[in-house]
Amino acid sequence: MLDKFNRKINYLRISVTDRCNFRCVYCMPAEGVKLMKHSEILTFDEIVETARIGVSKGIDKIRLTGGEPLVRKDIIDLVKMIAKIDGLKDFGMTTNGVYLTKYAQKLADAGLHRVNISLDTINPEKFREITRVGNLQDVLDGIEAAKKAKLFPIKINCVIQKTEFEPDAVEVAKFCEQNDLQIRYIREMDLEKGQFWQVKGGEGGACKTCNRLRLTSDGKIKPCLFSDLEYDIKEQGINEAYDDAIENKPERGTINKINKFNNIGG
Ligand code: 5AD
Ligand code: SF4
Repeated sequence: MLDKFNRKINYLRISVTDRCNFRCVYCMPAEGVKLMKHSEILTFDEIVETARIGVSKGIDKIRLTGGEPLVRKDIIDLVKMIAKIDGLKDFGMTTNGVYLTKYAQKLADAGLHRVNISLDTINPEKFREITRVGNLQDVLDGIEAAKKAKLFPIKINCVIQKTEFEPDAVEVAKFCEQNDLQIRYIREMDLEKGQFWQVKGGEGGACKTCNRLRLTSDGKIKPCLFSDLEYDIKEQGINEAYDDAIENKPERGTINKINKFNNIGG
């Protein structure tokens, strides 16, 4: 799929749930967010059908996101279903890592290629502050499990305030070097204020070469993270929703007042 600005759209990010076992300060307010009704959440069949039609239109890269994708019930079954789609070249997941001790090998066996794991600090107290409820050791164990399951290349998402030279980020970088992990620095963004930046070490945030579409867990195809535009697969049908999203993909992002990171998956 080519959009109006001649960008080749080949990457679909699928948010499989708006729920999460963490409450990261930059993602959710302490009291939590208004969650979608279970009845609004796409079924596995709806997700897979959307993925399949996407692949038939030129998508060859899919990433599962959340919230936290591993809190979605029977997630391994969904991974199996998507991995079977012919023509998919790159199939990843972004996770906070906690449930990888339980699921890493199962994910690999189900056909997932690789994982990106969020880690902003390797100081346990700081980690608790940022995630509000998380245990650093759970994530470190999860990273080990991902290595054992060979979900390579494992990338670490490190959210920074301004620069990669902040003390926490420097420590995370050292940890990554010692553990054969690739680090990507993501400067904290604000959807509502329209503050977004290019991901250092990754492809995100580069409007000129943006190759992405997003599917929310309640079935909206979004052409841009920093835009309110969305096309409902249940109202319009999957094909039409794709076509409208491609046709209307903005040249660059502005603001997004209707989504939060927990329901659009970063
Ligand atoms: N700014 C930048 N990145 C964010 N994420 C969540 N909220 C924000 C934000 N406000 C990222 C986390 C995680 C991914 C799922 O989304 O780094 O790795
Ligand atoms: Fe959960 Fe990720 Fe949001 Fe943290 S950033 S609350 S781990 S979805």
